[in-house]
Amino acid sequence: MVSLVPRPMQLLEFHDEGEGCRQFSFALQSPRPGDQAVMPGQFFMLTVPGVGEAPFSYVRPPDWQGRFSALIRKEGAMSPALFGLEPGARLGYRGAFGIGWPDLSGVRRVLVVAGGSGLAALAGLIEALIRGGRQDALTLVYGARSPGHQVLARERAQWRGALELIEILERREDGRVGGSPLEPLQAQLAAQLPEAVLCCGPEPMMQSAAELCLVHGMPPTAIWLSIERRLECGMGRCGRCHVGRSSACQEGPVYRYDRYLDRLAEEQDARRPC
Ligand SMILES: Cc1cc2nc3c(=O)[nH]c(=O)nc-3n(C[C@H](O)[C@H](O)[C@H](O)COP(=O)(O)OP(=O)(O)OC[C@H]3O[C@@H](n4cnc5c(N)ncnc54)[C@H](O)[C@@H]3O)c2cc1C
Ligand code: FES
Repeated sequence: MVSLVPRPMQLLEFHDEGEGCRQFSFALQSPRPGDQAVMPGQFFMLTVPGVGEAPFSYVRPPDWQGRFSALIRKEGAMSPALFGLEPGARLGYRGAFGIGWPDLSGVRRVLVVAGGSGLAALAGLIEALIRGGRQDALTLVYGARSPGHQVLARERAQWRGALELIEILERREDGRVGGSPLEPLQAQLAAQLPEAVLCCGPEPMMQSAAELCLVHGMPPTAIWLSIERRLECGMGRCGRCHVGRSSACQEGPVYRYDRYLDRLAEEQDARRPC
């Protein structure tokens, strides 16, 4: 049972991941059996004592010793304080929260589209598919602004040999203009329609990717997006995270595209003057 009171955990270690990003490893002080029951795409709330609390995706979910990791951008008010801490620092944890990626057990071809640090929310799913021997079903399209904005270098090095990984940069190492993940996505859709498309990155990129899938004849029920909203309680109590009539912390962060469109329509209706 999750609560509003953070559980103690410790910062174990970290390494830099591109510009302004770090992967942090944490250890829960008193791990519980239920801690490992994290679904890929769910999130947790991290507290830096005296500074604040914010939601983050799991890159590696908690193991039996309560150790897990997250990729965190240095932005806003809370994460710069985290970047100033050393291993051993005491932190707080609440989770796991939200609805993650769908069950893909019967799906024969999955296209995963990630932009920038959005790859973090997909890492657990990719690892789970590889562990389950499903790597042949998976194509990953990963786009970033420049080489310095690419994240999860160690994970991508392992995935490269295991699955079809298409990487694209807006600005390449030699300074030349590259492209966005929409270009390889278009080529993939034209070659063979996948049965599911899973997307995490900047919201405009995800919307364009979803529209491209629709243009190629995919149903909106086969497309999923992970939506970041400003969260506070993480458990449906404070009403801060509405997407239309839904709470992103409860119905999301992963939305099926048809439901996401319904929620956006509700938001527009609510803004319309009576
Ligand atoms: C489900 C989920 C998963 C996430 N996963 C990750 C992850 O894996 N890695 C990661 O780095 N980040 C992730 N984030 C984002 C992260 O939680 C923080 O939003 C980010 O680190 C900034 O945190 P902050 O609270 O310090 O920012 P703040 O300083 O509070 O503000 C950040 C931004 O929000 C705006 N803002 C501030 N207050 C409001 C308000 N009341 N209403 C609207 N906008 C406001 C600010 O103008 C600023 O642009 C995730 C968010 C969600 C919801
Ligand atoms: S964050 Fe409080 S209701 Fe969603």
